[in-house]
Amino acid sequence: MDNLRIELTQHPKKKPGKGDKLGFGTVFTDHMMLMEYDRGIGWHDARIVPYGNISLSPASTVLHYAQETFEGMKAYRSTDGRVLLFRPEENFKRLNRSNERLCIPALDVDFCVESLKELVMIDKDWIPEAEGSSLYIRPFIIGNESKLGVKEADNYIYCVLLSPSGAYYESGLKPVPIYVEEEYVRAVRGGTGFAKTGGNYACSLRAQTVAHEKGYSQVLWLDGVEKKYVGEVGAMNIFFVIDGEVITPELDGSILPGITRMSMMELLRRDGYKVTERQIAIQEVADAYDAGKLDEMFGTGTAAVISPVGELKWGDKIMKINNGEIGPISAHAYKELTDIQWGRAKGPDGWSVEIGHM
Ligand code: PLP
Ligand code: COI
Repeated sequence: MDNLRIELTQHPKKKPGKGDKLGFGTVFTDHMMLMEYDRGIGWHDARIVPYGNISLSPASTVLHYAQETFEGMKAYRSTDGRVLLFRPEENFKRLNRSNERLCIPALDVDFCVESLKELVMIDKDWIPEAEGSSLYIRPFIIGNESKLGVKEADNYIYCVLLSPSGAYYESGLKPVPIYVEEEYVRAVRGGTGFAKTGGNYACSLRAQTVAHEKGYSQVLWLDGVEKKYVGEVGAMNIFFVIDGEVITPELDGSILPGITRMSMMELLRRDGYKVTERQIAIQEVADAYDAGKLDEMFGTGTAAVISPVGELKWGDKIMKINNGEIGPISAHAYKELTDIQWGRAKGPDGWSVEIGHM
């Protein structure tokens, strides 16, 4: 790519060893991508450079008013040594939808995908080999004008980090316990819930801390107005299997349109399951549980993959789902998705993007 400058590190870092336990997002590779935007000039100076700190003015927009968007995706290493991405253009299209909401200038999706391929191939030796591990990719944009007035910035930084990662939940594929949040809300219609922006996560921290204190992995958010309808979980979309039907909350502007969610709906429909997107009240979930019809519950997300939910707490009511074991549809969903992501099965055209070899 002639509009992408590449500066390789002279000081490669020690990579995690084969047996090392990888957490999530704590180790970073040798390189990162950077690019700037200045109003009147546009995006410019795209480059892959050694990983390192970036310096900001203390008056930088992002530090005060959180003008920021990000994405989360992964590179996978197949057992026969191919390097694969999963639907990368969908992430950059979503990044632009988030950008529009946050008044951040749009990026060129093709350029983002192509430059990402270069970055991943430069650091391909960092893609972990262990089962279930992958190279987590974090593109993000920050508003970076040195000015305290509340308005969109005139200057931005686009950056992409790579992080070899293991399972997002320490429990791996073991079902997680989840708690229905009744006090705090994450998003309202008309807000920023559908965008992937840091503020959504900052405002979720309090609830997550309380959930952890109570022994739960994350919270299940309810709608921000009536606190009646199910939204999503901290870092994943949510699916219920009720009496054999797979149900997930519809996209109402307050939940993130997950790429795993969209992919899973398509795969399950292809496999003959009835999949419905609609409003679902938490009371309906509890009623289904009481009637013995809440067969399974699972979350979907890039980091979380498919995470079965083994216990759902709503007020004093504790619902043990499928005896706390992974259910057949969750197990099937996990296998279908991960087989495509790790190149063991051919998915729909364009989903698994081979970018090179080890
Ligand atoms: N919902 C939230 C709040 C998330 O942070 C994520 C993770 O990206 C998801 C849902 C799942 O989205 P995706 O499947 O695109 O990773
Ligand atoms: C992802 O799944 O990519 C996420 O961004 C979830 C979380 C770590 C914020």
